[in-house]
Amino acid sequence: MSKSLQAIRGMNDILPEQTPLWRYFEGTVARLLDNYGYKQIRMPIVEFTELFKRSIGEVTDIVEKEMYTFEDRNGDSLTLRPEGTAACVRAVLEHGITGGGQVQKLWYIGPMFRHERPQKGRYRQFHQIGLEVFNLDGPDIDAELIIMTWRLWGELGIRDAVKLELNSLGTSESRGRYREALVEYLSARHDKLDEDSQRRLKTNPLRVLDTKNADTQAVLFDAPKMADYLDDESRAHFEGLKARLDAVGIPYVLNPKLVRGLDYYSKTVFEWVTDKLGAQGTVCAGGRYDGLVEQMGGKPTPGVGFAMGIERLVLMLETLEQIPQEISRQVDVYLCAFGEEAELAGLALAERIRDELPNLRLQVNAGAGSFKSQFKKADKSGALYALILGDDEMAQQVVGFKPLRGQGEQQSIAWDALAAHLATCVVQG
Ligand code: HAM
Repeated sequence: MSKSLQAIRGMNDILPEQTPLWRYFEGTVARLLDNYGYKQIRMPIVEFTELFKRSIGEVTDIVEKEMYTFEDRNGDSLTLRPEGTAACVRAVLEHGITGGGQVQKLWYIGPMFRHERPQKGRYRQFHQIGLEVFNLDGPDIDAELIIMTWRLWGELGIRDAVKLELNSLGTSESRGRYREALVEYLSARHDKLDEDSQRRLKTNPLRVLDTKNADTQAVLFDAPKMADYLDDESRAHFEGLKARLDAVGIPYVLNPKLVRGLDYYSKTVFEWVTDKLGAQGTVCAGGRYDGLVEQMGGKPTPGVGFAMGIERLVLMLETLEQIPQEISRQVDVYLCAFGEEAELAGLALAERIRDELPNLRLQVNAGAGSFKSQFKKADKSGALYALILGDDEMAQQVVGFKPLRGQGEQQSIAWDALAAHLATCVVQG
């Protein structure tokens, strides 16, 4: 026998018992984004490699070692998208929909690919819901993004388990000045840094700030602080954001070491983190990227956005047992029919009911079977009620209506009255 095939490491099937929770989560986010006036955009999963190199940055972990890059049959270098912002910027530029200062509030959902070391909450194919706003440069929109996520955590019942971390990276000029000061400070202490930080000091010095190495962290204790190098405009922007979060009552922690792993950020950066998931605790992250569109060949266009990891948030709902009861039941009513004639009548009756109650989750037994086996299937489906069509019911043009959960006797309901009866018994989602 040939060796059985397996999924690629870090790329998961989402099985039928898991999809209801995914759909609940995705549906909740989609509704919220609709209500705040965001529109969905769908980009391809594969883009030219160059796009990611130019936007995310050549010396980031993602571009240096995590991208799924391959040559296609034309010899073009293509990459499975590791994130959504780059492709979204490419798309708005290509279609000219941010031209002339047009505001765009966009969101997307889908798989992303990074060749990271898989562990709980970290996968090689993972899923994000992300959003990007173009042509709004004030702190009000940064605040809106955060307020919206705060509302989402509330709706999902996980607000108490997440914490907002906030920082400002300033403009590219002020960041440049800070980078110089940091490099000077760290270079003088080069031998005390861990190997990875020594390398980063040359390639991407700000990333030294989020080192996990205790010795390097000790060196960083007295390092120059980014906040001291912020230009007036970035400072005012940051104050504006904090004032708005204060006004709505959203708690946050200032984290001067929050620099993010992608190069395109300026001014605001933020992360929602939790201690409920172990090492992979960032469930949603983003920030402002006012220089990116220009860097990608467009006119100067402010941008800000974030993305949340669906796997991590679903895991959180499971860990905190915040799974709404109604999503576990996928069938309201299960129709059992015995004999050929009853089966035909049952099919027609089911369609009539579906016409009248389009939201009713009605499953018709398939594969015939004895009384016993059909009831077993009805029960296993999780349905609240079984409808029974046998010889007696056919003769009287009724169905047997049998509650499957809890109290109540079986009763007979006339075919014509069935839809109305079901409407009173089943709360339709
Ligand atoms: P990111 O921080 O790289 O940002 O990813 C955002 C979120 O995606 C993370 O906070 C995490 O929840 C999830 N995530 C990232 N990598 C993995 C992984 N390997 N496995 C599971 N989940 C993961 C971005 O992608 C930016 N594009 C966000 C953004 C949008 N900034 C501005 N606009």
